[in-house]
Amino acid sequence: MEKIFNSETEKKQKQLLLNKLIDSKEKLITNNNIVNILSPGRANIIGEHTDYNMGFSLPIATDKYKFLTGIKNNSDFVEIYDSSFKEYYKFSLSNISFDSKVKWSNYIKGVVREFLINKHEISGFSFVLDSNLPIGAGLSSSAAIEVGVAKLIEEIFHLKIKPMDTVEYCHSAENNFVGVKCGYLDQISVVFGKKDCAIFLDFKDLSHNYIPFNLKDYLILIVDSKEERNLSNTEYNRRREECNEVVEVFVKISGNKEIKNLSEIDLNSLNNIKVKIPGKLYRRARHVITENIRVLETREALVKGNIKKIGNLLNGSHKSLRDDYEVSTERLNYLVEEINKIDGVLGARLMGAGFGGNIISIVKNTELDKIKNVIGEKYARKFNDDPDFICCKPSDGAKKINF
Ligand code: GLA
Repeated sequence: MEKIFNSETEKKQKQLLLNKLIDSKEKLITNNNIVNILSPGRANIIGEHTDYNMGFSLPIATDKYKFLTGIKNNSDFVEIYDSSFKEYYKFSLSNISFDSKVKWSNYIKGVVREFLINKHEISGFSFVLDSNLPIGAGLSSSAAIEVGVAKLIEEIFHLKIKPMDTVEYCHSAENNFVGVKCGYLDQISVVFGKKDCAIFLDFKDLSHNYIPFNLKDYLILIVDSKEERNLSNTEYNRRREECNEVVEVFVKISGNKEIKNLSEIDLNSLNNIKVKIPGKLYRRARHVITENIRVLETREALVKGNIKKIGNLLNGSHKSLRDDYEVSTERLNYLVEEINKIDGVLGARLMGAGFGGNIISIVKNTELDKIKNVIGEKYARKFNDDPDFICCKPSDGAKKINF
């Protein structure tokens, strides 16, 4: 676990902050009733934009986290102190409304609202939010907050919530309160992550199983382009609509009413109707269908320890996301191209929704410093901006921790 989440000074600082937060109310702070939650981000090895198409993905929960320290405050208010941004926020349980100015607060409100809708007995609570998980970098910091808050509520109020219900609450908070029509990839990864394992996800029935994750002399390197994404109002929701459109068109042309989503269509059947559908829709569908195949191949390569093949599959995924799904950007393409030129790099692709954010690559551990230097310099020269480098290992899903 990261040192910053462990040290005595950190722990004391958080308790002092909490003391301050609830100072005007009853003094409740004792070691016994403070709850600490560690909630990871997610890195997706492969399987992008497949979740809402009922396909496959192969993510991990990261060893970079949101860290929540909280306590019941005997009031009607939820109050938060974000210690990375030094921001304070407060809202009443009886008036949960969308805040267009303080965007991050909506992820928390959305989850709290789910607990109320589902009739769990909760009251006000205060918490300090800390993080070493970069925000907006495609590591799903939003799901990490959502699941962290859900776990915090569960522990503070001694509720027994099934893990899949936690996933549902958080997924619904993001879809129905925040307004991003995301699939289940992020929330499932953050809830079900497992140390040293990738999670093979089948979105058809939301089932998962674990694949031992051993890259031998290689590691996962994420490069954050620092190009900001704005998911809620962007192309993400449009891609979902386009996928639904292709399914409708396919059903109409083929007459096969059984087909409910893109993952039920194979490449041959798609190619058979290619001339009858608009080129853009054909390409969207081809991405989803071939990406599902790449996930299955990556799983097999991981089991067989064929790391080189995984690199090739990542490159294939990027090409498909760039040309067929059209969610890449100049910066992401540049990073993928340039990193692939360096010895010791097996492959790379944009990760997450795209439209900015980061790339994921598989690199030889002995070459890490060289790779960072080369990419850092080239990127700065071209875009006048410094990328961030994050190495990730698979970790456990969100959980309560005791100091
Ligand atoms: C975002 C969404 C996920 C998923 C990915 C793309 O991270 O939140 O549900 O669709 O994009 O794979």
